[in-house]
Amino acid sequence: MSDFYESDQALSEYLLFHYGDPDLQMPWTHGPLAATDFPVRCVETALDSYPLPADARALELGCAVGRAAFELSRSCARIIALDRSAAFIAAARRLQSHGRIDFTIPVEGPLTQRTTARTPVGSFPERIQFEVGDALHLPADLGTFDLVLAANLLDRLPDPVRFLSNVESLVKPEGRLLLTSPYTWLETYTPRPSWLCADGRRTSEVLHSLLPGFRLLRRVDLPFVIREHARKFQWSVAEATLWQRCSPA
Ligand SMILES: C[S@@+](CC[C@H](N)C(=O)[O-])C[C@H]1O[C@@H](n2cnc3c(N)ncnc32)[C@H](O)[C@@H]1O
Repeated sequence: MSDFYESDQALSEYLLFHYGDPDLQMPWTHGPLAATDFPVRCVETALDSYPLPADARALELGCAVGRAAFELSRSCARIIALDRSAAFIAAARRLQSHGRIDFTIPVEGPLTQRTTARTPVGSFPERIQFEVGDALHLPADLGTFDLVLAANLLDRLPDPVRFLSNVESLVKPEGRLLLTSPYTWLETYTPRPSWLCADGRRTSEVLHSLLPGFRLLRRVDLPFVIREHARKFQWSVAEATLWQRCSPA
């Protein structure tokens, strides 16, 4: 299977999804205007009323082209942002070093439009370490983090249970974990027996039993929109669950 997240189509869609002007992400006034700027809203949800220490460390797993990591850099001293896609990480690093990337988005058939992704104003690119890596095979010496963010990653993993059982070791006691997902389970990514919705239970119910070391702080619906071309858009609603790691007894 070729990896969609290494393709030129995915790169263009995600650069627009993360950095595009909201008017370009959703140009229709009768469309879901509240669904733009998804990575920004993820970070706002994760950091809401969170008194982070000055030396706060954050880890983002499945960061794609990096917008959430740039947003986290406003509040965190160090961010490790990792994705399995070499194409996505190359783009994130280029934004980090050059401040911009020009790219093309589809309009209709062969017609395209040039646009530019820019590093968010007021962010601190030098605080971020972008790495190609696998969330299921993380280096043993990563350490622990005040915040771990995994946005729309869970339903793209071959073994989400394994991911959830490992994630506790990455979060400091009293630290936070933000998971978001539209729970679009597909056999392309996750073998059916590993889907988290089973026996009549939906994923959000199952998550509680798979994160025994955490308490749920908040649950919120986060819509997002990915533009395919000028007249076609994927509108989805991710469920965001914000968890706090319990202190050891
Ligand atoms: C649906 S996209 C979400 C990207 C981004 N977090 C967002 O919300 O826009 C899933 C991302 O997870 C990455 N990914 C898939 N499997 C992964 C794995 N095992 N480890 C790390 N990243 C992975 C993909 O390359 C892709 O960037």
